[in-house]
Amino acid sequence: MSDSFYIGLMSGTSLDGVDAVLACFDSAGKPTVHARACELFPEALRAEFLALNRTDGFNELARSALAANALAELYARAVDTLLKKSCLPATRIHAIGAHGQTVRHQPSQGFTIQLNAPARLAELTNISVVADFRSRDVAAGGQGAPLVPMFHAGVFSSEQPRVVLNLGGIANITILRPDTDPIGFDTGPANVLMDLWCQLHTGASYDADGAWGAGGRSHPDLCQHMIDSEPWFKLPAPKSTGRDLFHQQWLEQRLLHMAGQLSTREQLRPADIQATLRTLTTQSVALAIRNYAPDAADVLVCGGGARNVALMQELQLALGCPVRATDDAGIDTQDVEALAFAWLAWAHQRGIAASNPSVTGAKGARILGATWPA
Ligand SMILES: Nc1ncnc2c1ncn2[C@@H]1O[C@H](COP(=O)(O)OP(=O)(O)OP(=O)(O)O)[C@@H](O)[C@H]1O
Ligand SMILES: [Mg+2]
Repeated sequence: MSDSFYIGLMSGTSLDGVDAVLACFDSAGKPTVHARACELFPEALRAEFLALNRTDGFNELARSALAANALAELYARAVDTLLKKSCLPATRIHAIGAHGQTVRHQPSQGFTIQLNAPARLAELTNISVVADFRSRDVAAGGQGAPLVPMFHAGVFSSEQPRVVLNLGGIANITILRPDTDPIGFDTGPANVLMDLWCQLHTGASYDADGAWGAGGRSHPDLCQHMIDSEPWFKLPAPKSTGRDLFHQQWLEQRLLHMAGQLSTREQLRPADIQATLRTLTTQSVALAIRNYAPDAADVLVCGGGARNVALMQELQLALGCPVRATDDAGIDTQDVEALAFAWLAWAHQRGIAASNPSVTGAKGARILGATWPA
């Protein structure tokens, strides 16, 4: 098969919107990006997904179905933009890999839920859709996440041990060493708590370039308390997490505890807490790299967090090896995750088992996803 065009659609835990890429894969699965698009979530849909992440909702089944349909409309708009930008007709696209929106992630209980409407997306675009990538790995006893390490291995492998760090809502790392299977796992929150705090105190959905937090003073004891009081950080890999664990109450409990420890003169300002949440991201990533990849020669960063200048500087100081954006290795930081889902659709159609038991802990590698034909 020549020119295999695929589209990848990723809407992650940050709930900022849909990242979309249209790429051509060669026979070895190496991608060339032809177009990219981003569709921000309308505020009402973002609020509805946030509400559906909580466990106290009313009429969740019907609301989930409606939110999934709305997501498919947004996905279709992103696909339309990609086709226009690349001047390709829908008939040239082999398939769309559509992640869906995670609203529950409980692999230890045997499920993970991504709201999605692949049938509707196939109807709207006249393109085959591959979706539901995570459930098969969970059924095989795995975490169902992260699913990107095989893709990272294909595009970012180097002669030296290397870490690929994705800073989305949650942070996940892939450890690449020559001639060995990749290792990968979630390390904890990346942007999810910073976004939440920023929204509460400034009204902005995220701290652009990390500027607000950069004006605060990170509080080492609060950061240490956040790490020490959360057993998840001490769990060995494989592990994954999400908004199920790192949510507003999680943060409020820790702040309440700390408030009782500080004198009136020491009280923290909101910007100090933002800085501390940034340090929590840095320290939890550093902990994981110290434990699992102390030999890393460099760290390549992707995801929206790569644009947080203060976070990138802090990571550079904490990790003691070069920390660079994936752009330096030829892939735009914002494209990596969406491209991974285009690749997962490519792998699905070729019958390639794209999960990695050394990453997810499943009892074997599996072909991920299911197809809704055009
Ligand atoms: N200019 C910027 N400065 C600081 N932070 C930014 C900037 N742009 C994006 N971000 C952060 O990146 C987040 C979005 O990142 P991204 O889309 O990679 O995460 P995600 O949607 O959770 O995806 P995934 O689950 O695939 O990792 C935003 O919510 C915001 O916190
Ligand atoms: Mg996103």
